[in-house]
Amino acid sequence: MAGEGGGAEKSKRILVTGGSGLVGRAIAKVVSEGEGREDEDWIFLSSRDADLTSAEQTRAVFEKHRPTHVIHLAAMVGGLFRNMKYNLDFWRNNVHINDNVLHCAHELGVQKVVSCLSTCIFPDKTTYPIDETMIHNGPPHSSNFGYSYAKRMIDVQNRAYFQQYDCKFTAVIPTNVFGPHDNFNMEDGHVLPGLIHKAYLAKKEGSSLTVWGSGKPRRQFIYSLDLARLFLWVLREYQEVEPIILSVGEEDEVSIRDAAESIVEAMALKGELVYDGTKSDGQFKKTASNKKLREYLPQFKFTPFKQAVKETCDWFVTNYDTARK
Ligand SMILES: NC(=O)c1ccc[n+]([C@@H]2O[C@H](COP(=O)([O-])OP(=O)(O)OC[C@H]3O[C@@H](n4cnc5c(N)ncnc54)[C@H](OP(=O)(O)O)[C@@H]3O)[C@@H](O)[C@H]2O)c1
Repeated sequence: MAGEGGGAEKSKRILVTGGSGLVGRAIAKVVSEGEGREDEDWIFLSSRDADLTSAEQTRAVFEKHRPTHVIHLAAMVGGLFRNMKYNLDFWRNNVHINDNVLHCAHELGVQKVVSCLSTCIFPDKTTYPIDETMIHNGPPHSSNFGYSYAKRMIDVQNRAYFQQYDCKFTAVIPTNVFGPHDNFNMEDGHVLPGLIHKAYLAKKEGSSLTVWGSGKPRRQFIYSLDLARLFLWVLREYQEVEPIILSVGEEDEVSIRDAAESIVEAMALKGELVYDGTKSDGQFKKTASNKKLREYLPQFKFTPFKQAVKETCDWFVTNYDTARK
């Protein structure tokens, strides 16, 4: 996975952990399609290059590439149902990965690290919209407390590295991400890719499409390619240690029902939509404010949701045999 841009030594060596995942591949695409710069050498890692839960392997991969900048995406990630089953594993793996990456970055003098939190780590009982100041205001939803607390500790660590060593380690907070190269597993994945996979099969079999839960919960979805462009801006321009929410606006929040209907339209599915109320809905909503982002980037244009869903469905259909399922 770890591809190095050849030629002369570049002044910036940007190491992307989790480079083989949904977000990492979107960053690689955006960089290779014109947003990369002359002075940047990009290195995308997968777990095959190093198991980042291991301090030794993390150190070795950092010494090998000697990055000046790090985008830290690697994490144990999953949808609601996988999170509910494995809270301990989510906590331990993610705490180890994050501590290994941040500490190596500090020890090897990395100039900047941008890590990745998530809006699903915010307090369960909160006022809406949530913003960057509220991360630690109360316990997260019980379904994913292992993942949530591990992610919250990145913010704690970033502040501590800044306080003790003046490190520029920061974090972004995306809402629900989707796009090509997602995990389209129907049991363990996130809601949108899981539904896209189910819709694909429903179309093939001429059957109905069953949505888990009531369809009423509301979410803000961000297209992975939009997120990738925002990551580049954060890496290059954003100077705060405090995290920043990367999200579409509150007005662009959609219900799971809306999302399912967009998939039906994108796939030209004829069968009916059925809601399985015996399955958990998870958090009803987690509406996030993108006010801070808008203050920095008032002109940024997000891809319209239906267009992004269509592009993702088309990618999945074209790449069905090799897609992560
Ligand atoms: N997806 C979302 O909706 C969402 C929302 C908010 C925040 N985020 C955050 O965004 C980041 C990227 O998520 P994603 O959706 O792109 O995840 P993903 O598609 O599941 O990719 C996860 C990446 O982490 C790597 N990885 C996992 N365990 C590792 C280990 N022990 N050592 C080294 N690498 C390891 C994987 O490598 P392999 O390919 O080799 O397994 C893969 O590259 C994560 O930090 C996640 O918490 C995601």
